[in-house]
Amino acid sequence: MEKIWLNEAFKGEVPNDFHGKVGWASPSNIALVKYWGKKGKQLPQNPSISFTLSECRSETFIEFEKAEKFGFHFFFEGKENPAFGAKIEKFLLDNQVFFPFVNQLNLKVKSRNTFPHSSGIASSASSMSAFVMGLMEIESLLTGPSTPSTNSGTEGSGTLDLCKASYFSRLASGSAARSVFTKMALWGKTEAYEGSSDEYAVSLADDIHPVFKTYHDSILIVSGETKSVSSRAGHALMEGNPYAPARYAQANENIKNLLLALKSGDLDTFINITESEALQLHALMMCSNPSFILMKPNTLNLINEIREFREETKIPLCFTLDAGPNVHLLYPEQEADKVEYYIKNVLADYCDRERWIADHVGDGPKKLL
Ligand code: PMV
Repeated sequence: MEKIWLNEAFKGEVPNDFHGKVGWASPSNIALVKYWGKKGKQLPQNPSISFTLSECRSETFIEFEKAEKFGFHFFFEGKENPAFGAKIEKFLLDNQVFFPFVNQLNLKVKSRNTFPHSSGIASSASSMSAFVMGLMEIESLLTGPSTPSTNSGTEGSGTLDLCKASYFSRLASGSAARSVFTKMALWGKTEAYEGSSDEYAVSLADDIHPVFKTYHDSILIVSGETKSVSSRAGHALMEGNPYAPARYAQANENIKNLLLALKSGDLDTFINITESEALQLHALMMCSNPSFILMKPNTLNLINEIREFREETKIPLCFTLDAGPNVHLLYPEQEADKVEYYIKNVLADYCDRERWIADHVGDGPKKLL
């Protein structure tokens, strides 16, 4: 794939009157089997599976014009943000072979998130994938659209090749590789899924039971503080973690079993693997050196409440965690009324200022302009 995209890259002279604006919205995603530990150039140590979200999105506009040399400015929610801009700029400079045309462009990027400030929700997956979709659209204005190779499946994405978008998003931020597909994505090579790759994610939309296509994810905000360990540092800590080999073996096993459960709609197995993966991710951080405890007391209180409620009511809800204290509550659409009543009356008390975000499985990136 990489060779094809290198060949396809626009390497000519950008016309003098080339200018315009593109805009893309791209969602965040929540991993069920977690990616934690990387190798080589942003490649995962184990495969991961995620739900693509809907309400938690980045909306990114790129204004572009022909220039003598590369120019780049990044604005986040109306203000220039050099720190985040530097990350995108680094991604562009590190990957110039794929985007040589940017050296002849002045880019002004304006981005916003639909989820609230200080909600502790990582935005790199949504923002990087939204940026990549925009960049690919600018390229397609120079070259004409490429023929999508595989895994289209996001209606809003038009003619952009989602496999390529996933590959480039991965180079910008690992988990962003999974955000470009509708419903669910698998990133990382596994014998259990033909066509899977470490280099890009693939869509699972055609291989999941209908119950998962409308799954809900209510994000219970325990703390809006930024994480005490960046995911980059966290991945790096896996290199010295004595449990790493066992973890990678376990993740591969979980992928195999989760793929079967997703296909058949087996909610008991889904719950079992999802919760175990969340706790393993945190256990890995607790036994890294230096170690990190990213859960807060209310993270544990919520986990206990959720497990008790499931036991009592037999409603198949479960939790997962990202690399932070917030709890993602996952449940089927048909249970939404009961679960939302329970959130408002019980779980919200454990949240920071009773804040929670009602999200659900979504359809991937959408063109805004
Ligand atoms: O994409 P990164 O480098 O921010 O890493 C994401 C890591 C987790 O969110 C903890 C797990 C995952 O698979 O998304």
